[in-house]
Amino acid sequence: MEALRQAIEHHNHRYYNLDDPEVTDAEYDRLMRELEALEREHPELARDESPTRRVAGTAAARFQQVPHRQPMLSLGNVFDDQELTEFDERVRKLLGKDLSRAPGDASPSVHYMAEPKLDGLAVELVYENGKFVQGSTRGDGSVGEDVTGNLRTVRNVPLVLKAGGPAPLPARLEVRGEVFIRKADFAKMNERREEAGEPLFVNPRNAAAGSLRQLDPRETASRPLSVFLYEVGEWVAPPFATHAAKLAQLAAWGLPINPQNLEVDGLEGIRAEYQRLMADRHALPYEIDGMVIKVDGEDARRRLGQVSKSPRWATAYKFPPEEAETVVERIDIQVGRTGALTPVAILRPVHVGGVTVSNATLHNEDMVKKKDVQVGDHVFVRRAGDVIPEIVKVILSKRSEDARAFVFPTACPRCGAQVMRDGDGGAVIRCTNLSCPAQAEAHLRHFASRTAMDIEGLGEKMCEHLVGTGLVKNVADLYALDLAALTALERMGEKSAENLLAGIERSKTTTLRRFLHALGIRHVGDSTAKTLADHFRDIHALFSASVEDLSRVKDVGEEMASAIHAFFSEPRNRETIGLLLSHGVTPEAPAKVEGTALRGKTVVLTGTMTRLTREQAKEEVERRGGKVSGSVSKKTDFVVAGEDAGSKLKKATELGVKILEEEAFLALLGQDGSSSP
Ligand code: IVH
Repeated sequence: MEALRQAIEHHNHRYYNLDDPEVTDAEYDRLMRELEALEREHPELARDESPTRRVAGTAAARFQQVPHRQPMLSLGNVFDDQELTEFDERVRKLLGKDLSRAPGDASPSVHYMAEPKLDGLAVELVYENGKFVQGSTRGDGSVGEDVTGNLRTVRNVPLVLKAGGPAPLPARLEVRGEVFIRKADFAKMNERREEAGEPLFVNPRNAAAGSLRQLDPRETASRPLSVFLYEVGEWVAPPFATHAAKLAQLAAWGLPINPQNLEVDGLEGIRAEYQRLMADRHALPYEIDGMVIKVDGEDARRRLGQVSKSPRWATAYKFPPEEAETVVERIDIQVGRTGALTPVAILRPVHVGGVTVSNATLHNEDMVKKKDVQVGDHVFVRRAGDVIPEIVKVILSKRSEDARAFVFPTACPRCGAQVMRDGDGGAVIRCTNLSCPAQAEAHLRHFASRTAMDIEGLGEKMCEHLVGTGLVKNVADLYALDLAALTALERMGEKSAENLLAGIERSKTTTLRRFLHALGIRHVGDSTAKTLADHFRDIHALFSASVEDLSRVKDVGEEMASAIHAFFSEPRNRETIGLLLSHGVTPEAPAKVEGTALRGKTVVLTGTMTRLTREQAKEEVERRGGKVSGSVSKKTDFVVAGEDAGSKLKKATELGVKILEEEAFLALLGQDGSSSP
């Protein structure tokens, strides 16, 4: 227990004072929980100075101290469905089973508020007769730091409240919330710091904390901070019956309240909203690390009370961590389609963001230098959503003596040709050999990939084999392969040869979108391929399109237009395309869209449909020029509600968004010209 206490204090110091953590938040939480568990088992060994007994850090002496009239509590955590269920059971047990909000409603489930757990810094704002008079950090929960001057510079902190809502403005109002930095603001801020040669912030949370605790408010003013409020402290006014009503009143006074907060019923409601938030997490403009679940009824809250420093009426339901610590075992060089040499860190496999990660791109030589990644280093890796895993930072304090700096090769690791840095101080280093097999392989891999021609049986090894043996020099050669040629290859069985040929044959029937994507034109990914396919509808139309024609297409910029034009002007590319078509590859034009009911509309799909899958429904909407979004907002045009639709349907009802049931949706698709699915 002593070792744990010391370790935690050490990490507190690294995190709060040095702004240079050595462990991930998840690892820190784990240590805390272990110590908490031991202290529960052996209360006789628990000590008052234990890190479990303080809320967070201590008030730095340089700011004035502000005692909180009501202690600023912390939250307990649950990490999985089991612990969540226990939380809900405890609440229900303590409240007596047939608790219900509305009189006459016999539902035994508890009414909760689910709020995104913003990853920032807790603050208290005090208003006297509607005027902002004092702002403070949480400090240790009882005493915080006076950061009034800094909070005044936060753009969305109202300096004066307006009258509104059912309650009159109280003589004194204490509101609590979170100060944070939006992801986009964070990126811009770090960009500017980089240009100015200042140290970069590791993440928005650290940036927010550092910015709010600047001694000079002018400095804070230059930092893009925001706040959302979520609780009140001392409340000298007639109490509200529910948390929801209280938040609505705060909003009516002009205080910023997170519009994502959602009232939910019982365990089922929490689960659905948790799934929604997890899915939408990366689309939100700020970082969240979980969801806060709060009992909505104020009377119920009073009856539940608190234990030590956290209320029994609320808990934080954490998301699985997206950062983990691991070791760089090697740095490899990959040669891409365009000959670019990309350094890739080969990592000791680690579970993060829901998958096992064993490598992370280092982009280019400059990045390796900037991040100072060496073989043998302990690093934090991050994998957020579908984003490629990246190394966030090297833990320098753990660098061993035999760590070695990476030396970028001067020759292509695949063909031995000389490499050259792109002109004009570009960061990319390329193999100069136009017929480097690595380039041909990468090209083939891309051509066959799932979002391109989707050729089953043509994986990485097979691409290497086909290029290595000289059987495929150009993607068009694929369509000239036959069983005899394939089975003549070493290590090629008849079965896999047949499978590959069948896969190649199937790929002949394809869409123009896939075909354009497969060609591997610079700057043209899947979504630009779709735009081009919708606009030109025929590959030959692209042969004759000028740069001006191309620039007129929506979302196609100058640089992209030139790259596309250059690609189609190149005789060798025209020849390859001609060969592909003559081998029977048939890129189909997108279906003509006649109706307009869905064009330009934003649609949210929720619940289960019986006649088509979510993926099919999405395709049908997109074919008609509509967009499918994951979350409901005021900008949503329709919500299509299948069976068992949950929180999204509820949100749509609240916002007054038009709701279509499956039948009505199918009717809309049918009436919209294209064949009904
Ligand atoms: S309520 C008594 N609501 O999470 C309840 N906290 O781990 C006090 N946080 O100290 C907090 N979003 O800094 C609450 N919607 C939210 C929150 C939230 C983020 C932070 C807050 C708190 C910490 C607890």
